[in-house]
Amino acid sequence: MSARVAVLASGSGSNLQALIDDCAQPDAPARIALVISNRREAFALERARLAAIPAQHLPRSRQESRQDYDARLVEALQAQQIDWVCLAGWMLLVTPVFLRAFPSRVLNVHPALLPSFPGLDGAAQALAHGARVTGATVHLVDEGCDTGPILCQGAVPVLPDDDLARLQARIHRVEHRLYPRALRLVLQGQPRVQGRVVYFDGQPQARTYEWFEG
Ligand code: GRF
Repeated sequence: MSARVAVLASGSGSNLQALIDDCAQPDAPARIALVISNRREAFALERARLAAIPAQHLPRSRQESRQDYDARLVEALQAQQIDWVCLAGWMLLVTPVFLRAFPSRVLNVHPALLPSFPGLDGAAQALAHGARVTGATVHLVDEGCDTGPILCQGAVPVLPDDDLARLQARIHRVEHRLYPRALRLVLQGQPRVQGRVVYFDGQPQARTYEWFEG
């Protein structure tokens, strides 16, 4: 039976779209069973509706603690029997309340080669540092900000005439290939986390994919 995956997205949801498209393939080990956004205007919600996937707008009120919000989030996910959660441009930090409900079952995509350039604006950080190579990372989520064990990475060159928009677009294209592969990997490859390293079938990073796009 295919795993029931929820995607949490605060924005445009282009990574959500990549996951939806991959899960529509006949050999997909997962299906996107729920999309949640904290922002009503997020295009991610529209993408879910277009794909006939249940979508919920779940705003966090100003007075609400992060823990209380996460408890509501967990309730919404458990009500739909969700097995795995993919954060895709989710702009809220998750708390232990959330992670305890889905231990080692929360993924995130980040627009840099972690552990370089965590936090906001990964592509802008790469430009500001004069990095020659950056990329995208899919990792398991822990309590830190973009600190969890790495699952897959894709490298992207920073070209001499790049501006932020061009570099972001190049990183996005890699993310869209990487995230579906990472999800398949954790569902099919029996991941085991030891320290900071994820082993698949006993091999560190044996089935992750790395490539370089010009
Ligand atoms: C992506 O660049 C992702 O790495 C970051 O937020 C962005 C979301 O983009 N976490 P989209 O909403 O999936 O288009």
